This record gives sequence, C-alpha cells and structure tokens, in this order.
Amino acid sequence: MPGRPFIGPLREMQADRGRFLIEGHARYGDTFSVRIFGRDIVFTREPALINAINVTHAQSFHKPMHIKMMWEPFLGQGLVPNDGPSWKRQHKLIMPGFHKRRVDAYATTMVDFTERLLSHWVPGEQRDVRADLLELTLEIVTKTLFDIDIAAGDASAIHRAMVDISERLVGDADLLIPRPRWWPTEANRRKYKAIHALEEIIWRVLADRRKNGEDRGDLFSHMVFARDDAGGMSDKQLRDESITLIFAGHETTAHALTWTWYLLAKHPEIAARVREELTRVLGSERVTVEHLPQLTYLESVLKESLRVLPSVWAYAREAQEDLTLAGYALRKGTTVTISHLAMSQNETYYPDAARFLPERWTREFEKSLPKGAYTPFAAGPRVCLGKQFAMMEMLMVLATVLRRFEPNLVHGFEPDFITELSRHPGPRGMQMIVQPAGG
Ligand code: HEM
Repeated sequence: MPGRPFIGPLREMQADRGRFLIEGHARYGDTFSVRIFGRDIVFTREPALINAINVTHAQSFHKPMHIKMMWEPFLGQGLVPNDGPSWKRQHKLIMPGFHKRRVDAYATTMVDFTERLLSHWVPGEQRDVRADLLELTLEIVTKTLFDIDIAAGDASAIHRAMVDISERLVGDADLLIPRPRWWPTEANRRKYKAIHALEEIIWRVLADRRKNGEDRGDLFSHMVFARDDAGGMSDKQLRDESITLIFAGHETTAHALTWTWYLLAKHPEIAARVREELTRVLGSERVTVEHLPQLTYLESVLKESLRVLPSVWAYAREAQEDLTLAGYALRKGTTVTISHLAMSQNETYYPDAARFLPERWTREFEKSLPKGAYTPFAAGPRVCLGKQFAMMEMLMVLATVLRRFEPNLVHGFEPDFITELSRHPGPRGMQMIVQPAGG
C-alpha cells in the first residue's frame, strides 16, 4: 500500500486530524500507511478491509496498546479499552442492561429532560446549542445510568470532571504517550483531581445500592446485581464500567445532535419536511417509543448527519498476528485506523458525497451499500453497546425540540470543525437564536 515517511504525517495529524484523513485518502487512495515512532499506522476507508477488521476477523484485533495506556487511569478496564476474555465476560454481564425493554423505559426521562431544557429557552435570545446539548445528554446519561438526582449537584460535578479529563486526553493523544500520574503540570493535576471526583460519586452510589439491595431500573443497578458463574463485578470493575459509560455516552451523542442542528439550520427545506412529519405522526402528543417507527424521515436525517458530520470520526484496532485481509498484508502490531469521516466522502459509495441528502437513505440504497461502508457505531462484536440507546435518545430529543423550535444559526455564524476525541465545533460553540417554530 502507498506509504509515507514519519515527521510530516505526525505534524500534519497533530495540526488537523480531520484534514489529514480527508486529504490523505484523496492523495494516497482508500488505504495508505504511515510510520510513526517505528509503528506502522494504516488508514482505511475501504469497506472490505473495514468489514474484515470489524466482523469476519475481529478476533485477530485488539484496541491499540498506546490508546489503552492513555485511557488507563481514567477508563481502567472498562468495555471500550478492554480486550480478550475479560472484555468477553464484561460484555456478557453488561449487555442485558441495554436490552430494548430496559432502554425503552428511559424514553420518558429523555423527553422530560429535553422539555425542561426548552422551558429555559426565551424567544429571541442567543444561545450556544452545543452547550445546551452537552448538558442535556449528560443529565440523561447520569439519570439513566445512576438514577442520580440532578438537584444534588452531582451532574455538574461530573460535567466539570469530564471537561477536565477530556482536555487532558486530547493533550496526551497529541503526544502519543500519556503523562504519568506524577507529571508536575496543572493540567495533569486537574485530570487526576477530576478522576477522583468521579470516583467519589460512584463509591457513594455503589454503597447506597448495596445497602438498599434494590434494582432501581438504572444501568448501574443492573451492573451491581449482574452475576455469572464467577460471581459479580468487583468494585474496581464497576468503577471502570461506570466511567466508561458516562464517557462513551455523553459527548458523542451531544455532538451528533449539534451537527444535526447545524445541518438542519443550513437546509430549512429539510427542517420543514421533518416538522411536517412530526405534525402528521405526533399530532398534539408528546413523542413516545411507539411513534419512532413512523418517524422515518427524521431517522434518515439522523443517518445522513452521522455520515456527513460524524461525531465519532475514526476508531482504531491493532493486529494481534500477521495476516492478509482484502489484499493487504498487515504485520502483527500494525494499528489500523478506520476513517469513518473520510469514508463519508467516498464518492464510490456516496454519490454527491458532500451534500446533505437524507433522501438517499432508501431501503434499496442501504441494501446496495457494501458491508463496512457505513459504520458510525463500528460493527461486529465491538459494535457500540449504546447504539440503540443513542439512536432512540437522538430521535426523542430532536422530535421534542424541532416541533417547537426552528433550527437556525446566528446571522453569519460558522462553527469551527475540531477533530479531537470527538468532532465538535470548538470553543465558540454553535450559536443560535431561539425562534419558536412557525414564528
Ligand atoms: C451518536 C452517539 C454514539 C456514537 C456515534 C458512538 C460510536 C461508537 C463507536 C464508533 C464505538 C467503537 C469504538 C472503538 O471500537 O474504539 C463505540 C463503542 C462503545 N459505545 Fe458508543 N457511540 C455513541 C453513543 C453511545 C452511548 C449513548 C453509549 C452508552 C450509553 C455508548 C456506549 C459505548 C460502549 C460501552 C462502547 C464499547 C463497546 C465494546 O467495545 O464492547 N455509546 N461507540
């Protein structure tokens, strides 16, 4: 495969990861490799290779070691960085917590919390809709995960901790190595303080669940009481899984919703079609899970938004053995980055790829896509465990917001496109003016 030398790519990657991927694929093809610090890193937007890594040869790949090291102090052995038999056991224990029946039960919380947010929106005022959506998704994930009473101030403590930790993880990602715990910088000190704050909340909720011995319907209760032949999860494992779920289920969803808002603001004719559908299907009712199968256009909007501006822009795997897949020889230890962001620009599968075109998502189109061409939630055994949760949450939130408010941007405002842990609009956020629908 086409290869590239070391220093240039590292600097380019650090400067702008999104541009590096898109331009790299445009210049070097659907699969190319670079060598950084003696490590081969392959970038691919080729469906056959992606499907082989995610699905048919998933057992030959783990999460890359340098990423695990970076996440270790924070996520420990949580589901995202875990591998092998330990991952398998944890996955089996946790998966029933994401059963459709359990997830469906969170629908009311999702709508209640969205309505609470909207009750603060004053017509004519300027707001950063990204900040609102970050707060909303965090409230939803903490309520459904821990059944935490937001009024207790825990949600804002979690929010502050997440901001501090994310900032540090981005810094570590740029260095390609994590700073050790003793590293004497203010940012590093803040990271460990934030981790400690999160742990305190988790220990408190754990003690409460154990004392009362009741399953309160939240995911944490499920994890505390889940058992297999080897018993239940240790306190450390519960801590790791809880932080992993807050981390995996918060920014990702908030940014996917933020980009959907942006795309709808840019395409008022599409926003109008969504509202037509909402009026037709919901009438004057609040959205419920029973309505979701009928909101087909809104679902297409979401699928297209996850394609055009994916919040999770790439994910990586490390080959555990030498192997040849889709015609590429991969040596043991090679990291493969699946460039979901670059895949969405691939004209072979997405004609008129730069256009936001929800109409493309017909049943025939989906059938015609080769396996591996659309994987915003990954695929195979390591598919996002929160995929149904996230899709439902985004549909519930969008249906609730869009029937009442017009997606728009402050006149002349254009966001930045920052590719860090997730792809987001940067510190200027997504500035909008609150405008009631039809007003
Ligand atoms: C739009 C929202 C979301 C997107 C685009 C997304 C995407 C992804 C992707 C691409 C992966 C694979 C990462 C990798 O292999 O390195 C993943 C894994 C995961 N996600 Fe999500 N995710 C979203 C929301 C959520 C939510 C809401 C939750 C939980 C409440 C969640 C929980 C997880 C977990 C636990 C994993 C690890 C699964 C495993 O390896 O067993 N995600 N997600």
